Amino acid sequence: MARPSREIHLTARPQGAPKPTDFELVEVDVADPGEGELLVRNAFVSVDPYMRGRMNDVRSYVPPFALGEPLTGGAVGQVVVSRNERFAEGSWVVHDHGWRELALLDGRGVRLVDPDLAPVSTALGVLGMTGLTAFVGVGDIGAVAAGETVFVSGAAGAVGSVAAQLARTRGAHVIGSAGSAEKVAWLEELGLQAAFDYREQATREALREHAPDGIDVYFDNVGGETLEAAIGAMRLRGRVVACGSISRYNDTEARPGPRNLHMVVTKRLRLQGFIVSDHGDRYRAFVEEVAPRVRDGTIRYRETIVDGIDRAPAAFIGLLEGANTGKMLVRVGPSPGKEHVSD
Ligand SMILES: NC(=O)c1ccc[n+]([C@@H]2O[C@H](COP(=O)([O-])OP(=O)(O)OC[C@H]3O[C@@H](n4cnc5c(N)ncnc54)[C@H](OP(=O)(O)O)[C@@H]3O)[C@@H](O)[C@H]2O)c1
Repeated sequence: MARPSREIHLTARPQGAPKPTDFELVEVDVADPGEGELLVRNAFVSVDPYMRGRMNDVRSYVPPFALGEPLTGGAVGQVVVSRNERFAEGSWVVHDHGWRELALLDGRGVRLVDPDLAPVSTALGVLGMTGLTAFVGVGDIGAVAAGETVFVSGAAGAVGSVAAQLARTRGAHVIGSAGSAEKVAWLEELGLQAAFDYREQATREALREHAPDGIDVYFDNVGGETLEAAIGAMRLRGRVVACGSISRYNDTEARPGPRNLHMVVTKRLRLQGFIVSDHGDRYRAFVEEVAPRVRDGTIRYRETIVDGIDRAPAAFIGLLEGANTGKMLVRVGPSPGKEHVSD
């Protein structure tokens, strides 16, 4: 019995900022699962900045999206039909066949989610890929220690908000930047020692004000001029955790990097990039440390939820413009009892 579903296809490679016409909503019939397969009704699909890179026809650490094919990405949903003994019908799973209502999966890369522990949406954010990114970045790459001064850009986003709070729980003095007064107010509520709106105050100036003695660790979500300002403010032997450079994702031509890169030498800095998918072995330690803190409220999170698979392209365009606070998600189906918590 084939079932109707809707999914989003990429119809054109965006030039600069993505436009609604780069995407198409397509109605399909999804076949019954074969031996070893499972059919999942997605509840939430994840909207992530890295997807912008995959829309270009350039090989990177993940291959580009194909034109005329459904987009993929993180998703959480419920198993409706299973012919795979690892996944019972009715169970909740996280997987990478997002941007569609129904997903036919072969069981690879599928992980069970306990809907009684936390709202299932968190499996895509604070307790999922973006939370793990923050955990690896702050702990393993940045080795943030008590008493250090840490600057996090994109601090009101999914990765940044968790990174800033994890640095704070390690006893660091944390400064965050974000793109609106509302986001700055939330960062202050989260207990960061300082937060500023980079659209209102130049980052270089804000760092001079909030970290007059310099910063030890910069958690970089933004790149470009923000990275340049942070390098300028680094102390001797500081570390840059190179997580992302969203200010450059819509560029159509490569721009020269930080003009002060020579300071990496003079200040003996370490600048290290990382990709979360290389760190799956840290998932268990991450959940053990972060899940109890999410449950007891010492790590808080927000989700920006857009309703309907047809609005996934708008959510993605919005993400690149700063429309989200915390994790950007699209709700495409029902989710179990526990309601999403917005703090
Ligand atoms: N290395 C990895 O494995 C890994 C994994 C996940 C994510 N990442 C990276 O981590 C970063 C954050 O990802 P996320 O999923 O947590 O997204 P997010 O921060 O929740 O959402 C993106 C945010 O970026 C900000 N932004 C957009 N354009 C900007 C600009 N020109 N300058 C400064 N800020 C800008 C916007 O917030 P404002 O309102 O504050 O501008 C927007 O809300 C991205 O760079 C992403 O590529 C890396």
